Amino acid sequence: MLECVDNPFGGGEVALPLRLMHGDWWKDEDLPIAWERYLGARPLAVEVGFGSGEFLLAMAKLHPETGFVGIEQFAEGYRKLLKHVAAEGLMNVFAAMGDAFILLNLAFEEGSLDSVTINFPDPWPKARHARRRLLSAEFFRIAARKLRDGGQLRAATDDPTFAQQAMEAFGAVPELLRCHPEPWLSESPYPFRTRYERKWIVEGRALHYFIYEHRR
Ligand SMILES: C[S@@+](CC[C@H](N)C(=O)[O-])C[C@H]1O[C@@H](n2cnc3c(N)ncnc32)[C@H](O)[C@@H]1O
Repeated sequence: MLECVDNPFGGGEVALPLRLMHGDWWKDEDLPIAWERYLGARPLAVEVGFGSGEFLLAMAKLHPETGFVGIEQFAEGYRKLLKHVAAEGLMNVFAAMGDAFILLNLAFEEGSLDSVTINFPDPWPKARHARRRLLSAEFFRIAARKLRDGGQLRAATDDPTFAQQAMEAFGAVPELLRCHPEPWLSESPYPFRTRYERKWIVEGRALHYFIYEHRR
């Protein structure tokens, strides 16, 4: 599965699964995907809505012992991530392009994930868009099913209304337990800032971070 190919983005040969170049490669797979075929026996971390992938790449470089799978519906962001994965020859990063509600639900075994991270997702402020919100009880329930016992669901938002809604949504999923005494953290628990986070910091917005742990 992992073979050396000409890097389509330039820079010579790179060891990379060929189908990783196509956002919908996962459609050829039996679902849920046997991720160990691609990533070995590593713990699995998923980032949902990774944007252009800077945070995902930084985390993957910091934790080569962990397999990272990014889910993003924005094609340009997906391509940017792949370009860096290829240029840097990273073997512990995979990505799938599509809607995270579908992909997280179908592509992962129940109880198989070490973490699911959602950084600054689109807010979808209108009521008719509510079902698309990632910071929702519906999405948290899917994530909770996919987490192993002790696995973490992590989220961040710049918007105080969505922070409040996220807190209520977490409260609606009893198997998720908050890891901090305060309703949310106002300082980032991560060693890297995401692209949007840097923007919000420059604008002086208050940020809200959540870490919950799955308990069966
Ligand atoms: C505001 S951007 C933040 C990007 C990045 N996480 C950051 O912090 O820089 C939100 C991203 O979430 C993605 N997104 C929102 N809903 C999604 C969904 N249901 N499935 C996949 N990606 C989604 C969008 O395409 C967009 O790239």
